[in-house]
Amino acid sequence: MPTEPTVYLNGRFVPMSEARIPVLDRGFIFGDGVYEVIPAYSGYPFRMAQHLARLQWSLDAIKLSNPMTTAQWSRLIKRMIALNEGRDQAVYLQVTRGVARRDHAFPSAATPTVFMMSNPMSVPAKDLVARGCACVSATDNRWLRCDIKSTSLLGNVLMRQRAAEAGCLEAIMFRDGFLSEASASNVLVVHGKTVSAPPNNHLVLPGTTNDVVIELLRKARIALELREVHEDEVRAADEIWLTSATKEVLAVTRLDRKAVGSGKPGPLFKRVYRLYQDYKRTVMRRG
Ligand code: PDD
Repeated sequence: MPTEPTVYLNGRFVPMSEARIPVLDRGFIFGDGVYEVIPAYSGYPFRMAQHLARLQWSLDAIKLSNPMTTAQWSRLIKRMIALNEGRDQAVYLQVTRGVARRDHAFPSAATPTVFMMSNPMSVPAKDLVARGCACVSATDNRWLRCDIKSTSLLGNVLMRQRAAEAGCLEAIMFRDGFLSEASASNVLVVHGKTVSAPPNNHLVLPGTTNDVVIELLRKARIALELREVHEDEVRAADEIWLTSATKEVLAVTRLDRKAVGSGKPGPLFKRVYRLYQDYKRTVMRRG
């Protein structure tokens, strides 16, 4: 029998079933908070510095001061992993603006709520990597600050549900005819030997996995264009890739039931997938 997960809430490690937040927490009432998902392989948090930098970005964007230093976060994340089961885990942390009488404007004095949990994580199975996944397309109807990793995820939730109902893994979104991202991942496309992806701006989350892939592409001298990508280019792409902390790099082989390229993960995907796995092994060895 797996034991109950241990979570962290406002300074204490407790069994998940004992963790309680007041109903007036602004995270619950308004979705007034930000979060991170950090993968940990064999106990080692992957790209933690980058995740904590993005957390700071999100906190700054919502004008909430960081309740912890980077060193404190780092200690806490490592402790969380050690206290939980699973060789590989996904650490989830969220900071909300805390508990206050319901009023949209910020409370004058509230203590941020800090919550953290860690769940066993399995990297995409070999057959999914070998087959690729199916996606649907959708109009990106979310707000204009998608660069903030906000817990207000209703837009993303509805998109992901649309994908699930179509038997697909993700919904790839277009805004004004241009690619933005998927409901919980970034998207890159390949034409010939060139990879293109939207640049980081207010319309997409600056993905930590996307950053790794971009670094690897540059190191391997694979042509890369960070620019607006038109919907027609996505539909005519030879390859489409998704990136996220939990999906790593995954090929999209069907979009709206139509084959992407050959209908199988393409040669550039296979190369980048290998580079990604090598990179992971290297940083894990370094600890
Ligand atoms: N989602 N875009 C969106 C909208 C996301 O929610 C995510 C990640 C990404 C990829 O970011 P990263 O590579 O840093 O994971 C892009 C996480 C995994 C989630 O919400 O569960």
